[in-house]
Amino acid sequence: MAAAVLSFFLILYFFTAPVISWRPWPDSPLNATAALFEGSKKYEGSSEFVKMKYHMGPVLTGNITVYPIWYGAWRTPQKRIIREFISSISADASRPPSVASWWRTVQQYTDQTGSNISRSVRIGAEKSDRFYAHGKSLTRLSVQSVIKSAVSASTRPLPINPRGGIYLLLTSDDVYVQDFCNNVCGFHYFTFPSIVGYTLPYAWVGNSAKLCPGICAYPFSVPKYIPNLKAVKSPNGDVGVDGMISVIAHEIAEVATNPLVNAWYAGGDPVFPVEIADLCEGIYGTGGGGSYTGQMMNDGQGATYNMNGIRRRFLVQWVWNHLVSYCTGPNALDH
Ligand SMILES: *[C@@H]1O[C@H](CO)[C@@H](O)[C@H](O)[C@H]1NC(C)=O
Ligand SMILES: *[C@@H]1O[C@H](CO)[C@@H](O)[C@H](O)[C@H]1NC(C)=O
Ligand SMILES: *[C@@H]1O[C@H](CO)[C@@H](O)[C@H](O)[C@H]1NC(C)=O
Repeated sequence: MAAAVLSFFLILYFFTAPVISWRPWPDSPLNATAALFEGSKKYEGSSEFVKMKYHMGPVLTGNITVYPIWYGAWRTPQKRIIREFISSISADASRPPSVASWWRTVQQYTDQTGSNISRSVRIGAEKSDRFYAHGKSLTRLSVQSVIKSAVSASTRPLPINPRGGIYLLLTSDDVYVQDFCNNVCGFHYFTFPSIVGYTLPYAWVGNSAKLCPGICAYPFSVPKYIPNLKAVKSPNGDVGVDGMISVIAHEIAEVATNPLVNAWYAGGDPVFPVEIADLCEGIYGTGGGGSYTGQMMNDGQGATYNMNGIRRRFLVQWVWNHLVSYCTGPNALDH
């Protein structure tokens, strides 16, 4: 039964574009299979059929620096939530279950030499484009032009850091990016030298608050056409941004383990890699799978979260642990 559900998931992945963050539809086919899944599986997403494989390419073993590129209209409190999440990844002092212990699963991945993914993830220089220099509708290629503008700006360009840099393009809620909402909430890839001048790992994550919060900010918002499904309250009071946090986490984990899309992924087809966060999409706690998010926590003010960062709480999906072959997270109850 687990295998049937899993192949259902894999089929879905194989029909979507590569290296994207896919949101589970809390929809009837998933609902039906989820019920079967619940009774039979031992651990979240577990299966002996998933072969997470290393394909010999580089991973990010040196200090990682995330360079946010704020595209469009961003408010200071919104930037603060996202910056504090990124800074929480290496903040060992946060209360358990912590974002830093979530990252420890990512650190379990190594390269050819046996070097682990870096423990250190820091926020670096930032760039803003409040004037939408490349328009309010971006394609996968024009996303690279936004990054080119950021690294070649005449004033304070972002540094060129191909070995430890993650260029994180964040679009405001009035910007459409190709395939956004069509089950795509973010993606990662690397820039082409012909466009940007360098091969730089990058990710894009969009604020879905206006376009499709029921897809990309789930479970803080739910699709209107599904009756009896209630949204949960978001931990930082901003549905769009709180929803982005899990997608940002998803993309950073995948860039770190598969920056040039030739390192860690499952599935036989390199054009459609299934990466370490794809396998755990929509799983936030023990029991998660199918349309069920798993057990989450309540902050006493009615908001839902599953891990602590610096000063704030976040809801972040789990990631695949290749040593045990199931999804894991710091708030797991039974393993
Ligand atoms: C989802 O599952 C529940 C029970 O598992 C069932 O009562 C409900 O009708 C299902 N919803 C849909 C839309 O299939
Ligand atoms: C990596 O970061 C650590 C601190 O987290 C620092 O001590 C070290 O010098 C850095 N290494 C490099 C190569 O920058
Ligand atoms: C490095 O990766 C190996 C192999 O997955 C793992 O056993 C070890 O615990 C990792 N080390 C750290 C510091 O995460």
